[in-house]
Amino acid sequence: MCGIVGYIGSRQADKLIIKGLERLEYRGYDSAGIAIINDGLSIFKKAGKVKALRKLVANADTSGTVGIGHTRWATHGEPNDINAHPHTGNSGRLALVHNGIIENYGVLKSALIAEGHTFDSETDTEVLVHLIEQIQKDGNLALEEAVRLALTRVEGAYAIAVIDRDNPSVLVGARKASPLVVGIGEGEYFIGSDASPFLDSTKRVVYLDDNQIATVSLENGLQIRNTANEEQPPFIQELDLQIEALEKEGYEHFMLKEIYEQPKTIFDAMRGRISSKESRVTLRGLEEYANRFVRANRIIIVACGTSYHSGLIGEYLIEDLARIPVEVEYASEFRYRNPILSERDIVIALSQSGETADTMAALELAKSKGALIYGIVNSVGSSIARLTDAGSYIHAGPEIGVASTKAFTGQVTVLTLLALSLARKLSTISNTYFQTLVRELELIPAMVEEILQENDHIKYIAKEVKDHRNALYLGRGYNYPVALEGALKLKEISYVHAEGYPAAEMKHGPIALIDENMPVYVTATNPSAYDKIVSNVQEVVARKGRVIAIVNKGEQAIAKIADHVIEIPSTEEPLTPLLSVIPLQLLSYHIAVELGRNVDQPRNLAKSVTVE
Ligand code: F6R
Repeated sequence: MCGIVGYIGSRQADKLIIKGLERLEYRGYDSAGIAIINDGLSIFKKAGKVKALRKLVANADTSGTVGIGHTRWATHGEPNDINAHPHTGNSGRLALVHNGIIENYGVLKSALIAEGHTFDSETDTEVLVHLIEQIQKDGNLALEEAVRLALTRVEGAYAIAVIDRDNPSVLVGARKASPLVVGIGEGEYFIGSDASPFLDSTKRVVYLDDNQIATVSLENGLQIRNTANEEQPPFIQELDLQIEALEKEGYEHFMLKEIYEQPKTIFDAMRGRISSKESRVTLRGLEEYANRFVRANRIIIVACGTSYHSGLIGEYLIEDLARIPVEVEYASEFRYRNPILSERDIVIALSQSGETADTMAALELAKSKGALIYGIVNSVGSSIARLTDAGSYIHAGPEIGVASTKAFTGQVTVLTLLALSLARKLSTISNTYFQTLVRELELIPAMVEEILQENDHIKYIAKEVKDHRNALYLGRGYNYPVALEGALKLKEISYVHAEGYPAAEMKHGPIALIDENMPVYVTATNPSAYDKIVSNVQEVVARKGRVIAIVNKGEQAIAKIADHVIEIPSTEEPLTPLLSVIPLQLLSYHIAVELGRNVDQPRNLAKSVTVE
C-alpha cells in the first residue's frame, strides 16, 4: 500500500518521479505528491490519482534533479490534499514520504508538541518527519544519522524516502516490514516500492532488508547501514524483467491483458518443471526439503484474498493426490489465534505480491515455532520470498490490475505440481494416473486459449446480467473455491454484492434469496459431483433464479434448463479450476466495464496490502 519513488541524478526529477508514481498506482490512488529540491524545497500534492498531480504541476516550476514522490492508500486521515505526502517538519527543511504505519505516533506526537512542534495533517507520517527534524536540529546531524536515530524510536512498519533542502546531494531511504528497492543507474540512483518506476533506466537493484537505511549520493554512491549503525554491504542484483510487462500493450485494461496472458503464464509456471515424456514433475525448492515434506504431520497454507482461494484448491489437490492432511487459514486469523505448530509441520505461504503484511506475520510466527516455511510467490525478491526457507516462484510476471487473475492460475498450477510431486514421492497415486495428469496439465494452456475465444459470448452474457445488484456463485469439490473466487472477482471490481457457496449448502440458507432478480453462477465441470449439481440447478430454476452455467463441452442436462451456458473443454477433475475460473474472470471484467467501473483501480483497494 502506498507507492514511493525517489530520484537523485542529473535529469529533471519530477518527470521521472511522476511517471514512476503512475507505475506504482496499483499500490494506492487516494492522493499523490512530489517534493523537489531546487532553490528551496517545492512540494506539490493533491487528493486523487496521479493524473490530478500531473495537472497541478503542469505550469509550475518543478526544475530540480533530486526529489521524492508518493501515491497514497489512506490509513490515518482521510484522502485530502493536506494528508497527502510528502510531509515536512516545521522548519520546512525536510520532506518525507512513507508507506506503512507508525504505531506509536500518538506518544511521539505528544512529546513533539511539548517541544513546540505544530502539525497540519492527521497522518502518522508527519510525526516521523518532525521527529527526524528535531533529532537533526538537536545534534546538528547529517540527514542519514538523524533518520537512523529517529527510526530507533519508531514502532510499526515503514518504507520511507527523505530529502533535505540544506543537503541536496543526498537521498535517504529506509525500510522495516514494507518493501523498498534502490535502483543503480549510470550517474543516478532511484528508490522505489518496487523496481517498476525505474525499470526503463536500470535493472541493477538492491532490495533493502528490514532495519536497513540506504544513503545515496552522487559523490559517495550507495551506502547501507542498519539502525544499529552497522555497515551492510549492498547485494546488487540484475533484474530479468521487461518494460513491456508494465504496459497495457493495446488492451483496454491491465486486467484484460492479464486474463489473456494466462495461456503463457500457466505454461511459464510449468516450464522446466514438468515433462510427460520423462513422466516427471520437479520443483527444485521442494526437492531440497523433500524429506521434511514426506514426513510432515500436516501442511498449513496461509494466505489472504484470492491467494487464500488458490490455497483452498491446494488443500483439495494435496489431500486428494498426496494424502497429506492440509489446513488452509486466512493469514490474519492464523497469526493471532495461538495456533498449534511443530517442527513436523510445513507452512506454505501463497502471495502474489510477496509483501502482504498478514501473510508475512503468519510466516514469522510459523518460523519461530520451527515449522518449515515454503513460499509460492510471484514477485521475485519480495519480502516473503526472502523470508521463506524454500519455495517456488510462479513466474507470472508483474500483475498490475488490482484484481488478481494470472497470479491465481499461476499459484494453482504450482500447487498442482507440488501435489503431483509429493504424490509421486509417496506413491499415493498410480503411475498411470500420474502420467495422465501430467499429460493433461501440459494441455491446459491450449485449453485456456480456447476458452478465451468465448470472450464475445461472455461479454454478451455480462450485458444481460449487469444490472443485478446481487449474485450467488455455486460449485462443488474442486469448483467450490472457484465459486468463492468468482464472487470475490465480481464484488471487488463491479461493487456488486456476491457470495460463493458450496452448491449443496444453498438449501441451508441462501436459497431464501433466490428469485428472478438473483443471477446464480454455477460451475459444473467436475464429473464426480455432476448429478448432484444438476439437482442444485433444478432447485434454483424452480425458484425462478437466473442460471449462468459453466459446463463441459457437449453437456446437455444443465444446458437445457440454464439461462446462459458457457462451454469449456473437459479435463481431469483436479485440473478443472484452471479452466473454470477463466469465464468467471471474464464475466466479472465485462460486468465491471458495463457498469463503468475503474477496473484496474477499484475504489478502496490496493494491490499490495502492506498494513494489517
Ligand atoms: C483479489 C486480490 C486480493 C489479494 C490479497 C492477497 O483480486 O488481489 O484479494 O489476493 O490481497 O495478496 P497477495 O497475493 O499479494 O498476498
